[in-house]
Amino acid sequence: MSATVLTRRVEATGLLTGMEWTPAEVRDLLRFTAKLKAHPSRYRTALDGRFVALIFEKPSLRTRVTLEIGAESLGAKTIFLDNTQARLGEREPVKDIAKNLARWVHAIAVRTFAQETVEELARHAEIPVVNALSDRFHPCQALADFFTLEERFGGLGGLRLAYVGDGNNVCHSLLIAAAQTGAALRVATPAGYEPDGEIVRAARRTARQTGASIELFPTPEEAARGAQAIYTDVWASMGQEGEAGKRAKIFAPFQVNRRLFAAAAPDAVFLHCLPAHRGLEVTEEVIDSPRSIIYEQAENRLHIAKAVLATLLG
Ligand code: CP
Ligand code: NVA
Repeated sequence: MSATVLTRRVEATGLLTGMEWTPAEVRDLLRFTAKLKAHPSRYRTALDGRFVALIFEKPSLRTRVTLEIGAESLGAKTIFLDNTQARLGEREPVKDIAKNLARWVHAIAVRTFAQETVEELARHAEIPVVNALSDRFHPCQALADFFTLEERFGGLGGLRLAYVGDGNNVCHSLLIAAAQTGAALRVATPAGYEPDGEIVRAARRTARQTGASIELFPTPEEAARGAQAIYTDVWASMGQEGEAGKRAKIFAPFQVNRRLFAAAAPDAVFLHCLPAHRGLEVTEEVIDSPRSIIYEQAENRLHIAKAVLATLLG
C-alpha cells in the first residue's frame, strides 16, 4: 500500500541509522508523507491487525505520542514498554527480547542509549526496528524536519540549512537526511563537539550522488550567513545531564539569538527538535517569534511516523 518500493536492506532492518535508506527511498517517503497528511482517512485501515512494540529507556513526548497515534490511526495497535528505569539487556539479553517480541508484534520502535542496542535488536528480531532516538541518531526527527522544510520552501535541492550547537544525534541525522535530499547543510559546533567524522564522511559520499553539500564551521556566524533555516538542539542531551554546567559555558557563543538570526536570509525560519531550553541554546525572542516553525516540525513528526510505519509494515 505504500508508495515506496524498499530495498531488501531496508525491509530486513527498518530505520536504524537512516543510512539504510537510499536517497530515492527517502524522496518516496517524503512524497508518501504528503499524501498521508493530505488524505488521512484513506489510510485508516492500512495496518489493521498489526502490532507495534515501543520500548523507551528515556523520556519522550513527541516520539512516543506520534508513534502511538500514528500506528493507531493506521489501524495498528501499540504496546508501550516503559523501560525508563531499567536498561535493555539488564533483566534479559537484548537478543531474547528481540526474539520474543518478534513472535508477537510486527515492528519494534526503540529509544535507547547505545546505537548498538538498536542494531542488536534488529539483528535478532527479523521484524523492522525503528530507531526512536539513540546516542548516535534520531532519524524520525530529521525526516520530519526535511519534510517541514520542503513544505515551507517548496523544494530541498540546495536549501541552505545551518545547524548550530552540539554535533549530537540530531545533528548526525540531519547530516544524513541533508545528504539524501540534496540540501546544503552548514554545521557550526564548538571545537571538540563536532559531529562524528565517520558520519560526516558517509554523508559526503551520499552528497556526491545527490548534489547536497555538507560543510563544517568553527563559528555560528559562518554557518548562519545567508541560511534559509537555522536549527539548534539542547547543549546537553539525555544522559549528559552531569555535563550541563560545563557545556553551558562552552556553548554560550553558539546561542541562536536575534544577532545570529540577523545573519541569515530575510525569510529564514527557526527550527528546534524540542524539548528546548529558552535562554540557553535559543532565546525566547527567536523561538517564540513568527519565524519559528517548531510546532510545524512537531506536527510533522506524526505524519512521518505514519509514513515510516506504513512503508515498513504495509
Ligand atoms: N524531538 C523529540 O524527539 O521529542 P521527544 O524527546 O519528546 O520524543
Ligand atoms: N539531542 C537530544 C534530542 C532530544 C529529542 C537528546 O538526545 O536528548
